[in-house]
Amino acid sequence: MSKFYTIENISETLGVTRQTITKYIKEEKLNAVRLGKAYRIHETDFVNFINANSIISDNVIDYKAINYNGFSFLNKIHSNNHNGDYRLEPLELNHKDAYNTFFWGDNIYVLQQLLPKIRSKVDLIYIDPPFGTGQIFSDMDKIEAYDDTLINADFLGFLRDRLYLLKECLSKNGSIYLHIDKKIGHYVKVIMDEVFGHRNFINDITRIKCNPKNFSRKAYGNQSDMILFYAKNRDHQIWNELKEPLEEEEVSVLFQKKHKTKGRYTTHPIHAPGETIDGDTGQEWKGLKPPKGRHWRYSREELTRLDNAGLIEWSSKGNPRKIVFANNHEGKKIQDVWEFKDLGKSFVNYPTQKNHDLLERIILNSSNVDSLVLDCFAGSGGTIVTANKFHRKWIGIDSSDYSLRTIKETFNKSGVAVNYVALVKG
Ligand SMILES: C[S@@+](CC[C@H](N)C(=O)[O-])C[C@H]1O[C@@H](n2cnc3c(N)ncnc32)[C@H](O)[C@@H]1O
Repeated sequence: MSKFYTIENISETLGVTRQTITKYIKEEKLNAVRLGKAYRIHETDFVNFINANSIISDNVIDYKAINYNGFSFLNKIHSNNHNGDYRLEPLELNHKDAYNTFFWGDNIYVLQQLLPKIRSKVDLIYIDPPFGTGQIFSDMDKIEAYDDTLINADFLGFLRDRLYLLKECLSKNGSIYLHIDKKIGHYVKVIMDEVFGHRNFINDITRIKCNPKNFSRKAYGNQSDMILFYAKNRDHQIWNELKEPLEEEEVSVLFQKKHKTKGRYTTHPIHAPGETIDGDTGQEWKGLKPPKGRHWRYSREELTRLDNAGLIEWSSKGNPRKIVFANNHEGKKIQDVWEFKDLGKSFVNYPTQKNHDLLERIILNSSNVDSLVLDCFAGSGGTIVTANKFHRKWIGIDSSDYSLRTIKETFNKSGVAVNYVALVKG
């Protein structure tokens, strides 16, 4: 008996909307019969449609029809053959260490060459690869810095191959931050889950990248991109619990009083719930017992020290409270929306250069002094320059000669000794 499918069946199988299937029927790309108000598609017609709109290569069906509709290109991702005949050749050696070196060349081959030396040694990777935009990025004088012409599945395959190598580089306490835009970022998230494991996903950080946009396109202003943060092994990653300073407005709400010389402050009770029967914190201090059902938060000796230091405020009714200054506030927990806007083209050394404060946060929170930090899409060198500033060891890689020139210029200016090595064929 022959089999018929509904539009719902087909839309589910292909992962496209019902409207798209109806459109294919109306465009006569897909044969269908009408049963009252509904369409039915004979299985032979469905098979014909698939055959006419797909290419089967290496046993992977490439649904052209699906791509035509903008559906997932994940099913087309493939790995490239990276068995090139390459070696590393010094360009300029300025120190004898193995690290603090910039490698100029395609990162897949550089990483392959480096892997025996850096496997499981890298504590932090930050990468900001091309975003698969199909564009060429040039400076103010229209000099090309790099091209971003690999798109869709080809771009995802390119990135995936590199991510597998990067995972090998990560130490057991290591983590990776991948900066990407929101057009392709959700596909990259799926790939990151595959490579690093869904369990090791920590955050999808929204980065506010620019001022609000005002355009006539029928869309909300796209003011943010994303940073995907994964650990090699979740719960074991380096985590320095960096804090964020309070906003001025938060300070004025939380610290409403003003000290003559020491700025804003608030007061906290010096007692806490729970009675101490015999212990020091249940005894009388300066003629006062803790209120019923409570005990002193500090030993009486500490209370006296605080009082002598002017850190106890006595109310007109003789109630003591501890003074807490805004200046001593340790800051607040960092959330997953970060505002680090990029500077305009005329203020940067390299097109698409990322904000250094953003890199500083990542490096300080997720690496330690002497950790090895890696950026294999180094561009202007922001990551490695910041890593160097905070006494981390680092490795930078980029294939662009503009990047090599920019990085050399930056390190030369600040007098930092760096080794430069090129990837050469043969
Ligand atoms: C978005 S930019 C990085 C910008 C950088 N984060 C900064 O702040 O300046 C991407 C960089 O990846 C580099 N790149 C692209 N493909 C590469 C490859 N296969 N190997 C090494 N570098 C590559 C480009 O040359 C470009 O500098």
